[in-house]
Amino acid sequence: MTDTPADPKPFQRHFVFLANTAWTSSEIQLNDLPGSGRIDEACRAINSGIWLSHALREHVKVTVILKGRPDPPLSLTFDTNKLRYVRPDERSTGGFIKKALEHVETYGTAAFAGLTITANGLAGSLHNAPYIYWLDGGGKDLLNVAMPQNPVFVIGDHKGIYQEDKKVLKKHKARKVSIGPQLYMGAHCISFLNIYLDRLAHYRVMEHSNNSGTQG
Ligand SMILES: C[S@@+](CC[C@H](N)C(=O)[O-])C[C@H]1O[C@@H](n2cnc3c(N)ncnc32)[C@H](O)[C@@H]1O
Repeated sequence: MTDTPADPKPFQRHFVFLANTAWTSSEIQLNDLPGSGRIDEACRAINSGIWLSHALREHVKVTVILKGRPDPPLSLTFDTNKLRYVRPDERSTGGFIKKALEHVETYGTAAFAGLTITANGLAGSLHNAPYIYWLDGGGKDLLNVAMPQNPVFVIGDHKGIYQEDKKVLKKHKARKVSIGPQLYMGAHCISFLNIYLDRLAHYRVMEHSNNSGTQG
């Protein structure tokens, strides 16, 4: 049975997507995102993380860690509470990343329009995160895992999660969780997690207001 505390606050969720081959250069081709180290997967992961229909989500961060050529790693963190100038199609997200990479090449690591760019790999991106969940088909069923208010989820791309990052996850005592019996695409995992947390928060609010009513 799901063990969830009755707390109606929204979840402050953070998705960390490992883009193992995505280029770290502004040479990425908007007409060929897959040919740019499969950066198309990172674009879909970002879009699954930050968007509702017609609106940006609130309280969501998505970090994509680009680990491809020529200068890995680079972490791009999108914060929906500050983001500006984004659109929900994959090509626009690719364009946003390309501009960010041009900015890095010109000025060094930087932040603009709700996007923070650092030279962090996974360890730097998980710094100080208390609740880390490692998305893995062999993990514990998510439905039986109590969710804190501020979970961090780490998700692999088509290559999965490399040994070097698995070591970091073990060191941070990340908890392996499974979302279902099949192997899913990373972006689909993020969509599922977002909707799952929306539902948990919704039912917590209902429970909270029912309890408040009976106590009055
Ligand atoms: C396309 S899958 C990885 C495929 C890769 N060839 C492999 O075997 O690891 C992308 C990522 O989604 C997550 N994932 C996929 N299916 C999952 C499941 N059933 N439960 C939890 N996470 C899952 C994992 O983090 C995985 O690394």
